[in-house]
Amino acid sequence: MAPEESAEAESLLPSFERRFLAARTLRSFPWQSLEEKLRDSSGPELLLNILQKTVKHPLCVKHPPSVRYARCFLSELIRKPSGDSVTLSESTAIISHGTTGLVTWDAALYLAEWAIENPAAFAHRTVLELGSGAGLTGLAICKTCCPSTYVFSDCHSCVLEQLRGNILLNGLSLEPDTTAPERHPGHNAHDAESPRVTVAQLDWDVVTAPELAAFRPDVIIAADVLYCPETVISLVRVLQRLSACLKDQQAPDAYIAFTVRSPETCWLFTSELGQAGIPWEAVPHHNQKLFPYEEHSDMAILKLML
Ligand SMILES: C[S@@+](CC[C@H](N)C(=O)[O-])C[C@H]1O[C@@H](n2cnc3c(N)ncnc32)[C@H](O)[C@@H]1O
Repeated sequence: MAPEESAEAESLLPSFERRFLAARTLRSFPWQSLEEKLRDSSGPELLLNILQKTVKHPLCVKHPPSVRYARCFLSELIRKPSGDSVTLSESTAIISHGTTGLVTWDAALYLAEWAIENPAAFAHRTVLELGSGAGLTGLAICKTCCPSTYVFSDCHSCVLEQLRGNILLNGLSLEPDTTAPERHPGHNAHDAESPRVTVAQLDWDVVTAPELAAFRPDVIIAADVLYCPETVISLVRVLQRLSACLKDQQAPDAYIAFTVRSPETCWLFTSELGQAGIPWEAVPHHNQKLFPYEEHSDMAILKLML
C-alpha cells in the first residue's frame, strides 16, 4: 500500500474495531468506505487487518460475540472483495422435524472453504451432493467454482423444501425436480455462465444404481453425514453404487468432509470403505479460514478413489 493509502486504511480499522467489539448493528459499519478502499488499494492486506481487529481481536477471542453475529459480519466482509455472498434460511434448533438437515454444520463450512481454494476440482463438471441440508456448501460452489451442473440432494422433505428456498434466495434458478438431470431436454437454452441447478429427493437406502448413473456425476461431495453407524453404512453402500457410475470410462471423484466427533465412527467409515474396496486419502488441511466454526474441532476431508 502507498503511505497515504495506508493512513486512510488505518482510520477505517478503529471504526471496525470499535463497532465490532460493541456488537453494533452491521448497518453502522463503514462498508461504503471499505468498498472504496478495496477498489484502489491492496484488498487482502486490508481485510486481514480488519479480521485481526474484529473476530481475531484478543478480547473477542476471549469473550466472543454470538456465532450468528460473527457469521453475518464475516459474510458481509467476504462479500466486499468478491461481490458475492451466500444467504441462508435455517432452523434455530440443531435437530427439528426429526432431521439434522435444517441447519448448517461445521463440516459444510470447512468443505466450502476447501472448494473455494480448489475451484478446479468442480469447474465445468457435474457435481452431485449427498445430504445437502441447508445448502451452504453447494451454494458456495455454485457461486465460486463454475460447475456445469449442480445436483443438491437429500432424503427429507422439509430439508428439500428449505433447500429450494435457499437456492432461490441466492438468485440461482432451479430446474424442475428431477432424479436424472441429463434426461430433460431444454437445457440448450441454459445460460452457460451459471450452473444448471437441480434438487433431487435421494435416499441412500433406496436409490438404485441406474438412478444414480442417470445423474452422470463427475464429482460427489458430502459434508457432515457420518454422525451415526447407520448413516455411515448407508453412505458407504451408496458410494459403492456410485463407483459403478462411469462417465467417459471414469468413476466420479468423491470428497467427504466431516467433524471427527468420535474415533469409532471414523474407524467404522474407513473400515467400511476398505470392505467396499474403496481406497481413500486424507486431503491436506487448507490455509484459508473464511467461516466461523469451532476452532478446535477436528475436521477432515477424505478423497475417495471410487
Ligand atoms: C448433519 S446434516 C448435514 C447437512 C449439510 N451437509 C451440512 O453439513 O450442513 C445430515 C444430512 O444428511 C441427510 N441424510 C441422512 N441420512 C440420509 C439418507 N439415508 N439419504 C439421504 N440423505 C440423508 C439428512 O437429511 C441431513 O440433511
